[in-house]
Amino acid sequence: MTTFQNTEKTNGSLDTPPRSPVGDDKPRTHSHKESWNQIRAALESTITIPTSPTGESHNTIEVPAIRSPVADADKFRLSLSAAPSMKERRVSRNSFGAALPIPRSKRQSRLSNVTLPDTQAALGQPTRPGMPPIQPTREFLAARVQDVFSDKVKAAKNMAFVFDIDGVLVHGDRLIPEGKRVLEILNGDNELGIKIPHIFLTNGSGKPELARTQQLSKILQNPVSTDQFIQSHTPMRALAEYYGTVLVVGGEGYRCREVAEEYGFKDIIVPNDIIAWDPSVAPYRVFTEEERATARPRDFSKVNIEAIMVFSDSRDYATDLQIIIDLLRSKNGRLGTVAEDPVSERIPIYFSQGDFLCPTEHPIPRMSQGAFRIGLEAMYKSLTGVDLERVVYGKPELATYKYADEVIASWMEQIHGEERVPANVYMIGDNPASDIVGGNMYGWNTCLVRTGVFQGGENDEENPANFGVFKNVLEAVQTAIRKELGEDFRFEWDDRVNPVLHGEAATSSAIE
Ligand code: G3P
Ligand code: MG
Repeated sequence: MTTFQNTEKTNGSLDTPPRSPVGDDKPRTHSHKESWNQIRAALESTITIPTSPTGESHNTIEVPAIRSPVADADKFRLSLSAAPSMKERRVSRNSFGAALPIPRSKRQSRLSNVTLPDTQAALGQPTRPGMPPIQPTREFLAARVQDVFSDKVKAAKNMAFVFDIDGVLVHGDRLIPEGKRVLEILNGDNELGIKIPHIFLTNGSGKPELARTQQLSKILQNPVSTDQFIQSHTPMRALAEYYGTVLVVGGEGYRCREVAEEYGFKDIIVPNDIIAWDPSVAPYRVFTEEERATARPRDFSKVNIEAIMVFSDSRDYATDLQIIIDLLRSKNGRLGTVAEDPVSERIPIYFSQGDFLCPTEHPIPRMSQGAFRIGLEAMYKSLTGVDLERVVYGKPELATYKYADEVIASWMEQIHGEERVPANVYMIGDNPASDIVGGNMYGWNTCLVRTGVFQGGENDEENPANFGVFKNVLEAVQTAIRKELGEDFRFEWDDRVNPVLHGEAATSSAIE
């Protein structure tokens, strides 16, 4: 590799203006002083340029760049965040004054047919029709033990865990083994046999809640109910009351159309419907016969799309960006039109989350919805000259954390009959810029794990976890439980416990 600092090869001395490498052999004059300064800046940069792997010289002329090598992207990057000049205090990726409705109803149960965790049923294992549940004595014994250790029980019900999923419990479809163990402990494999409240709060997306929780139950080998589960677009269900016809973007196949239908959106359009109507909208798209057959085209030149909902990661940036830009520049969401004023007739756009990176099976985190959004903002600004106003849900947005509180209270009611948010909430996450900053701002205890996005030193410098950094989720959960329930708390239920021997005695003395 060579660099532009290798001036010998490119232009000779920096003290004299360079000669044009092609055609014009005259030295540049003073009237080109500005350009010369730009060239000089470029020459002083350290951008590497490729050379032949064999080291042989090319039959080419290397022309120095005349523009700064520094990209323009920064000014588009977070231009509408709350405090772009104060990075450490930035908690919101939203425009000032944006409103984020969340569902009034706390429970997700209308989406669910999974109720209280029944491990066998949730894992799809055979139950015994007409027979009592397996281990009938365990619940009975646990209830007796809990009667005796009422202080510990009170503390157990006064704490709750909020789990990020990707990078904490799983990597894509691959289990992080400590995740399974943690859920066993919280589902009752502990000295009290008690369910310690926990919910799941993920910026993941792209499937209906029930499908995703069933998949997670299998991977984690523990029941996960839709009633304790929030993915990035879950609170966007509230938007179904605000908009009639919407464009839904992202996800595999038509799964996000299904999600929007479940949320109650009445008239849902996806990019494939538009391409099936007019393929010239997306000139680089190869549209398969199957896609054409399953799309729902109509004459979109007669339809006003009222809002754009980016629910999940785009599977085709070129097509999705083109259609979104077309709609944002149109007159009130009518395809084929271009508004004279880019702002007054612009339809709103919502994103389900803003993560720039996401941990997957791949060793280096992959780009996520935030990257797509930043690209869109840059393109929109370049085309129109104005900033794009948009609304972003998901962590670390306040609306999502408020909704999480509602779900925690509702889940508490289901498992312990007490509809309230425990005093000690622990957020466990791998991404300082979403899980941790959001939890910190919301007054939760925050635990950062090293199994996902965070790969730094002692703690994250910009958004440090206030409860600590842990090797994995098991270490974090055990540390939190020991703090709330005592250093000697045991993370295993023992069937040999005999509550008759309890009383003032310690649990260990009640083991026969
Ligand atoms: O950012 C994409 C998403 O997969 C992250 O999920 O569970 O880490 O919030 P999670
Ligand atoms: Mg994560």
